[in-house]
Amino acid sequence: MNIVIIAGTNRTGSMSKRIAQHIEPMYHAAGAITTVIDLADLPSELFVPTIYKEKPEMFNQFHDPILNADGVVFIVPEYNGSFPGALKFYIDLWKYPEAFEGRCVAFIGLSSNQWGALRPVEHLQGVCGYRNAWQFNERIFINNIWGRWNFEQNTLVPLSPKELDLNELLTSQASGFVQFCSVHSSKT
Ligand SMILES: Cc1cc2nc3c(=O)[nH]c(=O)nc-3n(C[C@H](O)[C@H](O)[C@H](O)COP(=O)(O)O)c2cc1C
Repeated sequence: MNIVIIAGTNRTGSMSKRIAQHIEPMYHAAGAITTVIDLADLPSELFVPTIYKEKPEMFNQFHDPILNADGVVFIVPEYNGSFPGALKFYIDLWKYPEAFEGRCVAFIGLSSNQWGALRPVEHLQGVCGYRNAWQFNERIFINNIWGRWNFEQNTLVPLSPKELDLNELLTSQASGFVQFCSVHSSKT
């Protein structure tokens, strides 16, 4: 399975990118090939009024992986109670309807607050539902991201010994999503 992982912000030094890189080996262990798309790499030339009509050639490198993906994993940080505008802008450049239609999608939310971007993920799910994507139900919400990320070991650590192990949940999501894609992806 070809899985694209989107770090859903263009913020320099984002935690979303760290999470994207953190889950890549989990997908490899589940037998998938991965591509990470970091919205910080989107060139500023894309932010012009004519972009919706005509895309420059260089946009293909950001778009072809989506069109060829069996599954897309969205890493969704919470910005002002929703998902980042940069992510919506990127999605708005995708080909309609083929980029979303029948595409398998999964979600990981992250926030500095206690809710783990539940609302931003659900906002994005509304978009994906509107565009007829196949949504994987097992979502992960990473709250208190700044307290949970161990910068020395580059991993998520529990805030208390009693809570569920997020790394286990992410591993389970990865294997479950690859299986989901093998059933639903029209690319296979
Ligand atoms: C523009 C902006 C808006 C934010 N709004 C919220 C918010 O509404 N709720 C929240 O819990 N955290 C909010 N945060 C904090 C981020 O969710 C948190 O720092 C997370 O790490 C962001 O992901 P990133 O590191 O990939 O940018 C905001 C951060 C930014 C930059």
